[in-house]
Amino acid sequence: MVKVAIMGYGTVGSGVYEIIRDNNFDYEALNPIGVKYILDIRDFPDHPQKELFTKNFDDILNDGEVYCVVEAMGGLHPAYEFTKALLENGKNVVTSNKELVATYGPELLQIAKDKNVNYLFEASVGGGIPIIKPMCSSLMSNKIQKIIGILNGTTNFILTEMIEKNKDFSEALSDAQKNGYAERDPSADVEGHDACRKLAILSSLAWSEYVDYKDIDTEGITKITLDDVKYADKFGYVIKLIGYSEKNDKVFARVSPMFVSKNYPLSGVCGVFNAIVVKGNYLGTSMFYGRGAGKFPTASAVVADVIDSVRHIGAKKQYLEWKPAAEGYIKPANEGVFRFFVRSQSQKEQIESLFGNVEFADGIKDGETGFITDLMTEKEFLDKANILNVNSFIRVLEA
Ligand code: HSE
Repeated sequence: MVKVAIMGYGTVGSGVYEIIRDNNFDYEALNPIGVKYILDIRDFPDHPQKELFTKNFDDILNDGEVYCVVEAMGGLHPAYEFTKALLENGKNVVTSNKELVATYGPELLQIAKDKNVNYLFEASVGGGIPIIKPMCSSLMSNKIQKIIGILNGTTNFILTEMIEKNKDFSEALSDAQKNGYAERDPSADVEGHDACRKLAILSSLAWSEYVDYKDIDTEGITKITLDDVKYADKFGYVIKLIGYSEKNDKVFARVSPMFVSKNYPLSGVCGVFNAIVVKGNYLGTSMFYGRGAGKFPTASAVVADVIDSVRHIGAKKQYLEWKPAAEGYIKPANEGVFRFFVRSQSQKEQIESLFGNVEFADGIKDGETGFITDLMTEKEFLDKANILNVNSFIRVLEA
């Protein structure tokens, strides 16, 4: 029996425990897996296996029988210190913690390589959707050109409620909280920080150079109104929070609400679902779709990583390296090229004299015109928009 420890007995940690307990027979032929410790600062007096619980991290760190540790604590500290100590002590670590991977990924992966152990994080992006492993193996023959993702379930639920049920942002957010999707402090989701960390992980994987999430220009959905939703509909789009990255000579990455054409598959990804489109130079386009959050979808990705590490007992581990990115590797945000949807109080003649022939939509809000520009860099756009009376703008996704 291979012994595993779980750190953090919240939603994901308890899901991991239950899957290992219930599905273990499936892996019998491989190598049975059993939970030896559960680390949590709380007490669980009614748990049927109370004897597994400990509050002492050293019990796990110093137990030579523990082969793999699941870090489902979330947050940076002490998850970082614990993970580092475990890897340095030769233990395999599996995590769902996107914040930790996005922040300390290069260092933790380097330690894992030096110690010939795994640091695996399939569940950190897209919950139960297989995306990390495909990017590291099935898509290896390709040069990845572009990643376009709906990477956050909470914001996708909120936008779907706005689009389909005509709820405004605060009503839709409150429903997301009632359904248990959004946290009481929903800022990491609605401000785009969660999607930003996931995009940083995918971009680092795609091009093997570390993309620091702090270098990704990020905008959330808090300013999106029902009028924006109506304009989008009139032009043939829906609004989605998109994580977008591409590599030509440099990497360009951004997270923001975007107009997504109703003809593009991501427009049909609704509710709490996530989807990631990956474009490879020989593959063309592939879309990965599924449940991006929740107890069992996330825990099933974690347990799959545990099994993967168990399968490689005694073998040389496959490792990932995220080299530090060279200066200037990430393009500045204002060099991004988009078409822009704009809401403006200016006259159509003035708009056309600045932007040329644009597509107009009227009748959503009195005294206001909506229009969509041609493709241009963000710098070019902002220079022109500064001359106009602009109320707001949203980028249009170029797939
Ligand atoms: N809060 C995240 C979401 C959970 O809504 O997608 C999964 O990372």
